Amino acid sequence: MASPARFFALAAFLVYVAASAIVPPGRQGLPFQPIANTHAPTTEINTIAQAAIQVKKSSAAAAIVASPRDPEGYHLVFGPTGGANNAPGYMGFTFLDKYDVNACAQLCNNRGADPVGGVCQYFNIWRAVVNGVPTTHTCAMYFLVADESTAVNTGQGDLVVTLSRGYARKNLVIDGGFEGFNACDDFCFAASYANWIGTSPAGGDLDATIFFSPTLAKDGNGSGLLGAAFGDDTDAGTLTPTKPLATKAGATYVIQSFFVSSFSDPDSEAAAHVDILWNGVVVGGTSGFTAAYTPTQSVSVKGTGNDTLSFHGGAAPAWTLIDDVGVFQL
Ligand SMILES: *[C@@H]1O[C@H](CO)[C@@H](O)[C@H](O)[C@H]1NC(C)=O
Ligand SMILES: *[C@@H]1O[C@H](CO)[C@@H](O)[C@H](O)[C@H]1NC(C)=O
Repeated sequence: MASPARFFALAAFLVYVAASAIVPPGRQGLPFQPIANTHAPTTEINTIAQAAIQVKKSSAAAAIVASPRDPEGYHLVFGPTGGANNAPGYMGFTFLDKYDVNACAQLCNNRGADPVGGVCQYFNIWRAVVNGVPTTHTCAMYFLVADESTAVNTGQGDLVVTLSRGYARKNLVIDGGFEGFNACDDFCFAASYANWIGTSPAGGDLDATIFFSPTLAKDGNGSGLLGAAFGDDTDAGTLTPTKPLATKAGATYVIQSFFVSSFSDPDSEAAAHVDILWNGVVVGGTSGFTAAYTPTQSVSVKGTGNDTLSFHGGAAPAWTLIDDVGVFQL
């Protein structure tokens, strides 16, 4: 039987091995802990319907515009149909005093970000008709973009869903999810591809890269990595969309990205740091060990019509992964 002294020596050795056994992402190392995906609550249809039925008097008789114009910063996904969304990424609902797609878009823009799912990216507006009488106009908000495939709730009891339309918030970033990178179908990475460019400082080696790896991605296959992919230097790299963003001059935007800094253990990731830059100016970022992909918003920024977005940081083994980058008009 091992003596206590030998046991402690072995335990110390194992701790040493664990701490020094970080295999860099570029060598197909595995994250310190599994990278969990978003838990997404679904629409509370019953709550909305019960609230709609309890509304006594119709405030809904106002004239309905047959084909409302898309609200600023949104595009129509489906509708009008007789089905409300029952979809994941639900952020709650508000009754509007009339059928007003612009008011619903404003509510979505100003909705506080969900701590797991981030900002509102989609809304479903519909009119409830109870016993033949228009009663309420629901504006239901989501942090995931839905479509007609989940617009399946046609009503319940005396309530009928009418004039249901879905609108998605436009993302100014082309391929913010890095899903356009598919140089392989299992595991590979590169310093750039059609939609994103990774650059390293002079003498640096692959300090900003794009990975195809379902294990590292928030969802799908693609993600960005800041910090040397092979762990062979401690330089910070820069990831930037290939083309400047086609914003509207003078309009206001918010940048959202999901970061995770748990490829290494918490001690090794303590120094993790990434800046979000808008035309070269720091407007947000992330620091320290982050266990799961977490949405991070910038301060609001002004568009010039031709804006440069970039992410700068990483210092292996304090790597940070980035996914689902969005720039949304406010
Ligand atoms: C991820 O890659 C696999 C293998 O190429 C592919 O079948 C799948 O459709 C991809 N997923 C997404 C979301 O693109
Ligand atoms: C947009 O910005 C890029 C770099 O910042 C510049 O090279 C290009 O000329 C600009 N294009 C226009 C139309 O202003």
